Amino acid sequence: MDGNTRAVFVQACHNSRAYATGSAGDEENFVVECLFWHVIIHKDFIAYMQYEQPISLPQPDEISARHSVLVGEHLQQKIEVAGGSISFAEFMHEALYASELGYYSAGSTKFGAGGDFITAPEVSVVFGRVLARQSAEALREIENGEILEIGAGSGKLAIDMLSALETLDSLPQRYNILEVSPDLQDRQQRRLGEELPHLVDRIRWLSDLPEEFDGVVVANEVLDSLPVERFVRRANGVAQLCVAFEDGAFVWKEREATDRLAYAVASVEADTGTALTDGYTSEVSLAAPAWVSELARSLGTGIAFLFDYGVSRREYYAPDRSDGWLRCHFRHHAHNDPLVYPGIQDLTAWVDFSSIAGAAVDSGLEILGYQTQSQFLVGGGLAREMEGFTELPLEQQVKLSGEIKTLTLPGEMGENFKCIALGRGVIETPSALHFADRTQTL
Ligand SMILES: C[S@@+](CC[C@H](N)C(=O)[O-])C[C@H]1O[C@@H](n2cnc3c(N)ncnc32)[C@H](O)[C@@H]1O
Repeated sequence: MDGNTRAVFVQACHNSRAYATGSAGDEENFVVECLFWHVIIHKDFIAYMQYEQPISLPQPDEISARHSVLVGEHLQQKIEVAGGSISFAEFMHEALYASELGYYSAGSTKFGAGGDFITAPEVSVVFGRVLARQSAEALREIENGEILEIGAGSGKLAIDMLSALETLDSLPQRYNILEVSPDLQDRQQRRLGEELPHLVDRIRWLSDLPEEFDGVVVANEVLDSLPVERFVRRANGVAQLCVAFEDGAFVWKEREATDRLAYAVASVEADTGTALTDGYTSEVSLAAPAWVSELARSLGTGIAFLFDYGVSRREYYAPDRSDGWLRCHFRHHAHNDPLVYPGIQDLTAWVDFSSIAGAAVDSGLEILGYQTQSQFLVGGGLAREMEGFTELPLEQQVKLSGEIKTLTLPGEMGENFKCIALGRGVIETPSALHFADRTQTL
């Protein structure tokens, strides 16, 4: 770790206090400080994730509240047509993607300070720059390789990556964006047209995966937004948690699990070597492995960098995670009740990365690496992005170190967020993936 990077880390450990970078202290102090923040922030974070109850959520404004009523009516109709309840996966899909109504399909601000949550590219340009450097390494290996970004959100990552690739003299002929939300596609087109008018001709928007694609695929926080099934293990089998509407509110309803869900839960138990206890509640994503298989069908020669918050299967179904991994976001409040505020809050679930790896291997892809976001960034050239840090004005140092703290510290996005890299036919693995690989934990 060079002086600049270390200074940023130490600054980060001081939790945004202005700190003279030249007097960063010795290596031992640095490690102790990082461990201190790891323990404090990480525990705090886990407790927060498990226990913040919706009672503390802010009230939506009038327009959002009206919109939520419409989405609620749409969901009630689905429930009625289905005979009284729908699977949670269907509820999640409709709440997020119902045409012109769902959270991602309608026009609210979702990303950044004015929205509901913040993602790595929104935190700092550094994320996109490091990813661009890694993509450039891979593109050198792939003849006529292009980039395909899946789920481009506000368009921020595309802006940062294209700008960095231009600086590195590694612009691909095409930067493809696959976005399922017409509203987001519209916003991305406007923003990229305004901010990168000289590069916009290289960008192509898609509504489906290309038939055949050679190059680099990037997807940040897409896996977690694919619908999941929710289940309860009962002594006599597996129950599927469905959603009904009673007394003016959405409520959970148990029904016998479909064969597919029961099989998925049986696979979890076989893989982890433990029977889940009576009452154990969690999620299984049937959509994410299917999504990976589709991606594999499309990918010829290339590499896919998938970033998300998640853990291995053993951690996902650990005895102490008996209430699952759903995570909802409303105005920067994270909580675990997906049945409130339909259509105006984000619904997500942490990713079981073992299932992603399994689907990739079954579909003929290689696992090129699995590491934390922090390890990806440090291994992928964070130090180079920090060159000249100590010459920056103090306010900029403080701002940048705050951003790096959020991206890399264990209690923030550094450890819970992972990067899994899947590939086919790429000869040289990008350099970030040589650092602290944990594929064997999957
Ligand atoms: C949580 S947002 C992340 C946005 C962006 N990548 C970022 O990091 O800020 C999820 C994005 O994935 C998109 N999305 C969800 N499912 C998708 C799918 N099956 N294919 C393509 N995009 C999808 C959503 O519309 C949205 O743009």
